[in-house]
Amino acid sequence: MGSRRPVIAGNWKMNTSLEGALALAKGVAAGAAKHPGADAIVIPPACFLAPVLDALQGTSVGVGAQNMHPADKGAFTGELSAGMLQSLGVHYVVCGHSERRHIFGETSDWVGDKVHAAISAGLRPILCVGETLDDRDSGITERVVGEQLLAGLRHLSAAQMQYTIVAYEPVWAIGTGRTASPEQAQAVHAFIRTTLAERFDPATADQARLQYGGSVKPQNAGELLLQPDIDGALVGGASLKADSFTGILAATTSA
Ligand code: PGA
Repeated sequence: MGSRRPVIAGNWKMNTSLEGALALAKGVAAGAAKHPGADAIVIPPACFLAPVLDALQGTSVGVGAQNMHPADKGAFTGELSAGMLQSLGVHYVVCGHSERRHIFGETSDWVGDKVHAAISAGLRPILCVGETLDDRDSGITERVVGEQLLAGLRHLSAAQMQYTIVAYEPVWAIGTGRTASPEQAQAVHAFIRTTLAERFDPATADQARLQYGGSVKPQNAGELLLQPDIDGALVGGASLKADSFTGILAATTSA
């Protein structure tokens, strides 16, 4: 993890009810208060952002959106802009989650436009990158991750990169119970950091916070976070229970 501050984010995806979201947010806040050395972020469905923000007032927990549209405003029925999220008080936004890329056909350039719109509006993007199992088996993991990374960051300056988190999420490890081994994850994280050093500069790359995502749970978080280039986790399934999310926050203290 190096000297970077750990950051654990819970992507709730299309789960929870209003009541469940509020209870989960409060549970996360209680857990986060016990682990002040890490940043905790919850990423609820868009319709619960405002009530969750209210419920978390005065706590250390950050709130993120799962998606947004790159335009400022306009005739885009069903979409949300970065400015809207910012005006609500949202802090982070996930850009290019693999479910958006693979189910909704988002391209890497489109994701790059979102990252830029997010930063320009004062949000902190969490840019997701990751290869499919076919990509990995064909030996093109670095080519795929490198392309997603550079396109995702294509409009950013080094100063803007400081506010951006990159999440490496191998698609074959998301929701499958199959985690990348710590060595497999570290190898891609090191590649991402080297690519950031070439694209920006070594200091910017050194400061960038890189999360691993894909079936992270309390039982495997510690060994992943021990890796030198893994600074946190983007958690799906295990973020839906305050106890397991808190267990992952706890793993940051031993790493
Ligand atoms: P998972 O999801 O933890 O359920 O594998 C991770 C993610 O999609 O961010």
